[in-house]
Amino acid sequence: MYNAKAYSAGSASSPLASTRISRRDPAEHDVQIEILFCGICHSDLHQVRNQWQSVMPTVYPCVPGHEIVGRVTKVGSAVNTFKPGDLAAVGCMVDADLTCPQCQAHLEQFCPNCVLTYNGPDKHLGGVTYGGYSDSIVVKDHFVLRVPPNLNLAGTAPLLCAGITTYSPLRHWGVTKGKKVGIVGLGGLGHMGVKLAHAMAAHVVAFTTSPGKKVDAQRLGADEVVISRNANEMAQHTGSFDFILDAVAAEHDINAYISLLRRDGNITMVGAPEKPLPVSVFGLIMARRSFSGSVIGGIAETQEMLDFCGSHNITADVEVIPIQKVNEAYERLLKSDVKYRFSIDMASLKSE
Ligand SMILES: NC(=O)c1ccc[n+]([C@@H]2O[C@H](COP(=O)([O-])OP(=O)(O)OC[C@H]3O[C@@H](n4cnc5c(N)ncnc54)[C@H](OP(=O)(O)O)[C@@H]3O)[C@@H](O)[C@H]2O)c1
Ligand SMILES: [Zn+2]
Ligand SMILES: [Zn+2]
Repeated sequence: MYNAKAYSAGSASSPLASTRISRRDPAEHDVQIEILFCGICHSDLHQVRNQWQSVMPTVYPCVPGHEIVGRVTKVGSAVNTFKPGDLAAVGCMVDADLTCPQCQAHLEQFCPNCVLTYNGPDKHLGGVTYGGYSDSIVVKDHFVLRVPPNLNLAGTAPLLCAGITTYSPLRHWGVTKGKKVGIVGLGGLGHMGVKLAHAMAAHVVAFTTSPGKKVDAQRLGADEVVISRNANEMAQHTGSFDFILDAVAAEHDINAYISLLRRDGNITMVGAPEKPLPVSVFGLIMARRSFSGSVIGGIAETQEMLDFCGSHNITADVEVIPIQKVNEAYERLLKSDVKYRFSIDMASLKSE
């Protein structure tokens, strides 16, 4: 065991603050990584404030962070995919049984024994896992990803959650050239959804509540932008979408989007608001539409997404911050005031 620097929250109402945590020494299948950048996902905020207590209550202290890029510092004797000095990335999962039907289908995110990067059961040290708001992490090799060498590292970190969470449902629902695709909510996830759907050659319509993001949305790759609070703008798209990806973190009117789907169209939720959303069954049955959900993506698909981003030169638009600004960043996240992902420069942790 060794000590690592980190930022943790002590309760649902306390700010994140500097701390020391224990990490395990790398075992034979482990990769130890010096963390260079970690993105701030809205899920970090939901978990730190225990907003998902009915499904996954937060254990304190909580060290969030699951959009990790860094450099390998040490590998176990059985690791042959990474060596010290290599770039490496870690997303939302750090373990799974790798034997169940979900794992065999390369869908580790659905494994009953999947261990999340933070707030998951830590079978090595006891207690819960600690995430990427830290200077180092030790992860089983299967869950460590390769970083394309051409990508900017601060902008690559958010691909590990925001990237895969939008890439996976776009692929699953067959988004290709010529499909009309809506992306709802231009935050960390949504702005990646726009970039990725554009790179898949879809006709992309971005829905935003923030008129100030309209020009940006076009620059990110949207063919059209709809201000979702304007009923007339919404009505112009009735019955026309093949697929809509909803990445909104708060309560909102999902039925307004269901009515925009064509016959057999699908809307998938990746946003995970604290409270349930009321769904109009008539909106679904009258046009055989479907409403579904998706959570991150498997490890093989995460690598596929990173390689896709490497070949299309796609990274997140980031505002790089020192870790000392993390609490301020959380407040801004609640106001939809980030373009479009905070990425923590972990060098700032050295002075703590
Ligand atoms: N399913 C998964 O695997 C997965 C993975 C990661 C995150 N998530 C969840 O996905 C959600 C989004 O995460 P994120 O990191 O992208 O968050 P984010 O950066 O805060 O973006 C959320 C966006 O939603 C829109 N929005 C916020 N409040 C709204 C409201 N009251 N009504 C309508 N729109 C609103 C805003 O976009 P505009 O300003 O454009 O309206 C905002 O930028 C969170 O709930 C997060 O926990 C799920
Ligand atoms: Zn996330
Ligand atoms: Zn499994």
